[in-house]
Amino acid sequence: MNDYKKIRTIRYMGNKNKLLDFIIPEIKKITKKGEVICDLMSGTGAVAYALKNRNTVYTNDIQYYSYVITKAIIENNTIRLDSNTAIKDLKAKYEENLKLRKYNFFEVNFSDTYFSKDQCIEIDSIRYAIEQIDNEYKKDLYLTALMYAMSKCESTSGHFAQYLPKDHKRVVALRKKSIFDEFVTKCDDFKDLVFSSYHNKCFNLDYKELFKLEEFKDVSCVYIDTPYTGEQYSRFYHVLETVTKYDNPTLEFKAKYRTDRFMSNFSLRSTVKEEFKSMLTILSKENKKVVLSYSTKGLVPIDELEFIFSKIFKHVKLIEKEYKHSTQGKGAIDINEVLFVAYN
Ligand SMILES: C[S@@+](CC[C@H](N)C(=O)[O-])C[C@H]1O[C@@H](n2cnc3c(N)ncnc32)[C@H](O)[C@@H]1O
Repeated sequence: MNDYKKIRTIRYMGNKNKLLDFIIPEIKKITKKGEVICDLMSGTGAVAYALKNRNTVYTNDIQYYSYVITKAIIENNTIRLDSNTAIKDLKAKYEENLKLRKYNFFEVNFSDTYFSKDQCIEIDSIRYAIEQIDNEYKKDLYLTALMYAMSKCESTSGHFAQYLPKDHKRVVALRKKSIFDEFVTKCDDFKDLVFSSYHNKCFNLDYKELFKLEEFKDVSCVYIDTPYTGEQYSRFYHVLETVTKYDNPTLEFKAKYRTDRFMSNFSLRSTVKEEFKSMLTILSKENKKVVLSYSTKGLVPIDELEFIFSKIFKHVKLIEKEYKHSTQGKGAIDINEVLFVAYN
């Protein structure tokens, strides 16, 4: 029996919710209760959340939407939500925006792309209502519920790299869904959040910048889940970045990407090996314990990654697990999920 909780925030490529039984016991074997564990590229925060009742957890991710999600579920130890509260807090402002369209970025830029025009107006209006909330963690929880609602209604194969053509068989049903209804329903999932007495912290940095912070000295174990394919998360999830920041970005191409997308060296064949070497060298010098997830389908072959680890750390263990991985639209493929456990 596992003794940790799971939480569903957004649909996310490579999220570790289904692999927690594989990952969490290995992290527990090399850490003590209360020690600081850092989820270095935390995405949906699934791993950090599973450790929240046992450890102080820090999270970090370069994407702002991930920062919002992790603040809502990891740093937040005070605020829960439910659908009645959501309606009480937001309905009046939501209706105000339906009439006045003070927020209209989605309506203007995304109508008939990933969403219908009506769904875009719902998104703008929920976002407007959320902006009026004072409490930071409540706002983050509402933004997380909004992202979830958008992921339930998006006319896509599971990410925002491109949208489905209008005549695609799934589009009619997806466009009938109400973002507002999905949003309110989702708020009930936040009735029962794990709270702890640990002082958790969330960051929104390139991991190299995190390594330079004073707080990083407190960390004893780093869990690392890098991207392992050539797909950039900033391209797959640009719409979530935009709805959370709501910063009127310049958009480009048919798919309406933000122009300020972050390019991760872990998703570039030309840089990925050097990136692993330099990251692991710093962690070894700082005497951190490392648990790293990777895949047998990753850009770096596992034997090469093992070689890199063995040159940098004194103790290295490699554990593999078969796993059905969702490719977000292209069906499930069999891959082996790999865990490196390393320390000096
Ligand atoms: C495989 S996903 C992590 C999934 C996460 N473990 C979960 O369960 O949802 C990889 C993450 O690395 C982040 N990332 C990529 N390069 C980064 C960098 N240089 N610094 C910080 N985060 C980065 C991406 O934004 C993405 O969220």
